[in-house]
Amino acid sequence: MLLELRDVRVHYGKIEALKGVSLEVGEGEIVSLIGGNGAGKTTTLKTISGLRSCSSGSVFFDGADIGSMPGHRRVLAGIGQAPEGRGIFPGMSVHENLLMGAYARKDDHSKELAEAYELFPRLAERRTQAAGTMSGGEQQMLAIGRALLSKPKVLLLDEPSMGLAPMLVQQIFSIIEEINRRGTTILLVEQNAQQALRLAHRAYVLETGRIVRSAPASELLDDPQVRAAYLGGDVGDAAGAAGGPDASGGVALDKAAKDGSEEEASGAGEAGAANGGKDA
Ligand SMILES: Nc1ncnc2c1ncn2[C@@H]1O[C@H](COP(=O)(O)OP(=O)(O)O)[C@@H](O)[C@H]1O
Ligand SMILES: [Mg+2]
Repeated sequence: MLLELRDVRVHYGKIEALKGVSLEVGEGEIVSLIGGNGAGKTTTLKTISGLRSCSSGSVFFDGADIGSMPGHRRVLAGIGQAPEGRGIFPGMSVHENLLMGAYARKDDHSKELAEAYELFPRLAERRTQAAGTMSGGEQQMLAIGRALLSKPKVLLLDEPSMGLAPMLVQQIFSIIEEINRRGTTILLVEQNAQQALRLAHRAYVLETGRIVRSAPASELLDDPQVRAAYLGGDVGDAAGAAGGPDASGGVALDKAAKDGSEEEASGAGEAGAANGGKDA
């Protein structure tokens, strides 16, 4: 296993956010971690990247117990993360943000830089633009591109589809698939369960700090309980495949609209951006 969590418990003060989480990610896999708000998905990723420490349990990466390894060493070891809410540097240019992803490296990063621009042509068009002035979708691309600059063995993605218009959700997910096809292992956290399960090889369902299901992703897509809880109960073949306004991208859109947290929730601007991306 490339990555393994064994019975991990994490606390915020007296609150136990992870209550004994065990999961495995094999080299080359896309593994998805799905679950509702507050289930502990972000906490799980932070525990892997070293932003939170375990109260008990262990985290193994590439054969070593990394429980006490500081975060920047984990990046060097091959754990890349595109954080929830993107975490880009708004005053810096797109190009400078990408280079930040390679800050811990001492070797040549030109191949990964070229690859990030190749995967995200919109970033190449905007390399001198201040990152903070880009659309939410573009910032998400930048966060993923920056994570690639660390040349990760495993890429941790925290709700990459959050707040994006349906067309852009499709685009981000197909780029994630391409990144995996080129050899990077992926642990994908999503509330947009349908899209994540279509992409992933295997998946775990997290509920209030506990893994309650673990199965091949296709099995969870067909599971009545999972469908009822996370897929809106009705997943026809038409939904999700084309990424139309009624496909699961709409779930993310609805969610963002409810949260009121992302500009894409209002729609028009991002749809235009997505079209622009397609034409480019
Ligand atoms: N900084 C924090 N301080 C206190 N509690 C937190 C903090 N971050 C997360 N939590 C709590 O831990 C639980 C899991 O949160 P989180 O991992 O962010 O869930 P998810 O990403 O699945 O929505 C929630 O109950 C949340 O309120
Ligand atoms: Mg979260």
